[in-house]
Amino acid sequence: MNQTVSPLTARRSGPLKGRTRVPGDKSMSHRALILSAMTVGETAITGLLEGEDVINTGRAMRALGASVERVGPGNWRVNGVGVAGFAAPSGPLDFGNSGTGCRLVIGAVAGCPITATFEGDASLRSRPMKRFLDPLGRMGARTLNVADGGRLPLTLQGARDPVPIVYEPPAASAQLKSAVLLAGLAAPGETVVIEAEATRDHTERLLRHFGADVRVEHVGAHGRRVTLRGQPELKPAVVTVPADPSSAAFPLVAGLIVPGSDIVLDGVMLNPLRTGLYATLREMGATIEELDRRDEGGEDVADLRIRFAPMKGVEVPPERAPSMIDEYLVLAVAAAFAEGTTRMRGLKELRIKESDRLAATADMLRVNGVNVEIEGDDLIVHGNGRVTGGGLVKTHMDHRIAMSALVMGLASEQPVKVDDTAFIQTSFPGFIEMIRQMGGDLS
Ligand code: S3P
Repeated sequence: MNQTVSPLTARRSGPLKGRTRVPGDKSMSHRALILSAMTVGETAITGLLEGEDVINTGRAMRALGASVERVGPGNWRVNGVGVAGFAAPSGPLDFGNSGTGCRLVIGAVAGCPITATFEGDASLRSRPMKRFLDPLGRMGARTLNVADGGRLPLTLQGARDPVPIVYEPPAASAQLKSAVLLAGLAAPGETVVIEAEATRDHTERLLRHFGADVRVEHVGAHGRRVTLRGQPELKPAVVTVPADPSSAAFPLVAGLIVPGSDIVLDGVMLNPLRTGLYATLREMGATIEELDRRDEGGEDVADLRIRFAPMKGVEVPPERAPSMIDEYLVLAVAAAFAEGTTRMRGLKELRIKESDRLAATADMLRVNGVNVEIEGDDLIVHGNGRVTGGGLVKTHMDHRIAMSALVMGLASEQPVKVDDTAFIQTSFPGFIEMIRQMGGDLS
């Protein structure tokens, strides 16, 4: 990652207008690269997100023996090495800022008889890895080295004969589920993950797409039981990556809070396990219209028309968290411009993202004059329809804080300064230009 610090200021802007498409979904992009590297033959991927996080996953796949080639913007070709076919990399695998890339590849390597070292930037080095190593240890992988507190850098020796397990993740985490399923690919028999609360299901969907036998059953009110039959022969397939709903959230909220705005975001993925933000904003009174709902690469997508609308505060239930876990920062911005109190409940997992997002979101709002509280794992924003602004927001190496703060500044009374926007490159290259093209004042 280019370490040049790039501060930026967002100023109150005229109505945002225009039609645009945000980059490909980050979760699907990581998984498309990893799973195609585990097939034998050539997979074509279109719409791949070309952000730093995904590029690092592509590099890791190359270092593990797959051929990964860019043939045009968003168009990639991967020639895989088959399940359990990874070769030992000659140096550490560096995932930069990306928890998802790192954790998923840890899972994939855990089922192969090789040793690999995993590295990351200061943000990723501060994030917990132990909860991944526990189930993978039960499957036969050995942690040879790990930094204090179960953090990166770590060295993992994958299992020669991986053992399938039945696993109940201690937290609602798609990364945990996916790491175990990816390790389970190399194990004989059935690997089972039982989630108390369903999380994004891109791993399951793509595994099926590549020919694996995956069964999904509903469990209780919100849970799922995922069963993977191990040692499949994964077959290459064409993967189409739709626009990322988590990235779309930023221009979308900008359109809702900048008076007079009317924008269209094309081809946004509307997988029901990713759309908690959309449901919440609609409850707040947002006008989000779905135009031309259709199927793209096995996912529901639609063009979204967003128009400025006054919003009111709501209560966001904890069971909605998995379907909008990355969207609370920008929801908090929308809540600051709404009338009344928004209480977002059950946000424990936010503390261990690219930064402590619970604390960082509260700070972002507070320095800009918003009345905000943290109560246990809840974030409470008292909105009064306007935001003073005038603050300097610290991004803590977190792309989503940078983008949320810039969105806030487009509608606040005083400019909002962001200390560093460089990390936006990890997930949303082109974000700043896109907002400028719609009429946003960023300089
Ligand atoms: C992701 C899962 C989520 C999310 C992350 C992407 C994924 O993390 O925050 O940005 O692609 O599986 P957790 O699984 O840790 O909740």
